[in-house]
Amino acid sequence: MSLERTLTVRVERISRQTPEILAFELAHPWGRPLPSYEAGAHIDVHMPGGFSRQYSLARAPSSASARRYVIGVKRELSSRGGSASMHERVREGDLLPISAPRNTFPLREEAAHHLLLAGGIGMTPLLAMAQALAGRGAAFTLCVFARSEEHLAFADALRAPSLAPHLRLHLDQGDASQRIDLRSLLAQRAPGTHLYVCGPGGFMQAVRDAAAHWPEDALHAEYFAAPTDAGAAAGLPFTLKLAKRGITVPVAADQTAVDALHEVGIDIPVSCQQGLCGTCVVEGDGEGAEHRDFCLTGSERRHKVALCCSRAKGLELELQL
Ligand code: FES
Repeated sequence: MSLERTLTVRVERISRQTPEILAFELAHPWGRPLPSYEAGAHIDVHMPGGFSRQYSLARAPSSASARRYVIGVKRELSSRGGSASMHERVREGDLLPISAPRNTFPLREEAAHHLLLAGGIGMTPLLAMAQALAGRGAAFTLCVFARSEEHLAFADALRAPSLAPHLRLHLDQGDASQRIDLRSLLAQRAPGTHLYVCGPGGFMQAVRDAAAHWPEDALHAEYFAAPTDAGAAAGLPFTLKLAKRGITVPVAADQTAVDALHEVGIDIPVSCQQGLCGTCVVEGDGEGAEHRDFCLTGSERRHKVALCCSRAKGLELELQL
C-alpha cells in the first residue's frame, strides 16, 4: 500500500472561528502556486503525531486561492487525536505535508438549482461551492445550521454580498421564525434541483431521511467519518479478475481487496481506508460489487469500485487493472 504523493505547505495563518473551530491558511513555502482544485475538493493533512485526516478546502478556487488553501478544523472531543494535534501542536510558520486536492464531492453541471445544506463544520466544502456558484451566476441556496452565532464558522465569508442573498441561516438558539424544518424544505423537489449535504452524522441522517423520496443521483453527501452503523470491511471470500493483466487474485474473508492486491505486488493508493476519500477508487464492474463506500454516486457505482472497503456481490469482481 502507498500514500499518494505529498507536498509540503507552510501554515501561514491560524484564526479562531468558534470556540471549537480553527481556520488554517496553508501556502507553498516559497510562495509558488499550489495545485488547482474544484469547489468541494479536500486534501489529506499529515500532522504531528503520525495522524492523517481529510479536510475540505473552504474557499472557492480563484487566482488568489491558487496561493493559499483554507481548511477548518473542529476539535472533536471523541477524535482519535487528529483534530487535537492540529489545535495543540500546529503553529503559524510550521511546515505540514499534505496531499494534492481530490474531489469526490463536485458540483453537478447539469443541475438547474443547487441546494447546499451545511451542518456545523460541514460548511467548509459547501462554502467553497457557494462561492463558486455565486461567481458563475448559478441558481443556488445555501442553508447553514449552527448552534448559535458564536458557533458559526466563516461568518464573514457567509455574509459577503455575493452570498448573502442565497443564505438561509438556522441557529438552534436563534429566532424560532428563521429555523429551517428539513421535512418541509425537502418535501418537494423542484425539477433539476441537486442536493448537497455535509455535517455531523445525525444531521446527515436527518437530511437523508427527509430526502428519502429524492432520486439517488440528485443527492450528494460528503462524510467526515464512516457512519457508526457502517458494515465491517470483512465478508465472504471472492476473486478479483484483473482484466488488463489477465490474472485473478483471491481475496480472503478477512482481507480487503487493497490488501489482497498488495500481496501480489499491486499497490493501490489509499488514505482514509473507510470509503470516504475516493483515493482507492478504480474502474471496474460496479454492478457486480457490494459497495460499502460513502464517496461514489449511484451512477459512478455502475463502473467504479472503492477497493479499501467494497467487495464482490458474488464470487468474482472484475476490475480494469
Ligand atoms: S482509501 Fe479512502 S475511499 Fe478508499
